Amino acid sequence: MFRDRIFEGKVAVITGGGSGLGKSFARRFAELGARTVLASRGLERLTAARDQIVAEGGEAIAVAADVRKPEDVEAVMRAAHDAYGRIDILINNAAGNFLCPAEKLSSNGWRSVVDIVLNGTFFCSRAAFPYMQEQKSGRILNILATYAFGASPGTVHSASAKAGVLAMTRTLAVEWARYGILVKAIAPGFFPTPGAAERLWPGDPEEQLARMRRTVPVGRTGEHAELANLAAYLCSDYANYITGEAVVIDGGMSWNHPLFEWEKL
Ligand code: COA
Repeated sequence: MFRDRIFEGKVAVITGGGSGLGKSFARRFAELGARTVLASRGLERLTAARDQIVAEGGEAIAVAADVRKPEDVEAVMRAAHDAYGRIDILINNAAGNFLCPAEKLSSNGWRSVVDIVLNGTFFCSRAAFPYMQEQKSGRILNILATYAFGASPGTVHSASAKAGVLAMTRTLAVEWARYGILVKAIAPGFFPTPGAAERLWPGDPEEQLARMRRTVPVGRTGEHAELANLAAYLCSDYANYITGEAVVIDGGMSWNHPLFEWEKL
């Protein structure tokens, strides 16, 4: 399956596509034949990611946009359609996060994260909708986190927003199935990125990684390729009967027991 160019002729818009997990999705989808549209605020990183994909033999364009602004994301979809004539896949990956105890979180800090994660996902999905409706086909993939199902002490803003995106995934899946639009989600556990290391896991990187490995039953953090392959499967025709579902990919972390230390067993 993943040796084939399963996305030949397809167009994929990836928000936050200039770095971290978003760039990994974009590179993998391009490798599988998709024409990719990278959107995020930082044009410099975005153009670097675009150039990398093109150098790897893929197709990509970069469009600067803030997902919090409906007019920006509408412009992204127009640019995608102008460049490639269709929009088949939207990956809502753009996110914002930082560690802060709930009682110290400012109104603006709360709003910024909820605005990027929850409002941004809605604005992008709504902006992609007319193109997908016209084609009678579309795939929307929302990137959650395992804590969308539980608690995330220190990031109440992100946990609340991701739980909202989970409800949005299920609701839009039901509303838009009649148009051939499937809406799904992925809930990753620990997949190290520079952004997460800087914002969520301060301190000695090796020590942090060792702590993570201890919490994950399979004994390691996730590889970006593993996440990108799951995303590819869910956006492909192999998964046409899956909608409104969030797939957890976390090496068993969600089922771990707090007292269980696998290396001592
Ligand atoms: N601790 C506490 N509050 C913080 C904070 C931190 N580490 N970082 C930002 N904030 C607060 C700011 O103080 C500000 O509130 P204030 O006006 O009451 O002071 C508010 O959040 C907005 O910050 P600002 O930097 O102006 O917003 P922004 O729109 O430029 O950035 C963020 C949005 C805050 C989400 C920023 O972290 C971001 O751009 N993230 C994108 C990348 C990312 O987070 N990826 C996820 C990796 S896991």
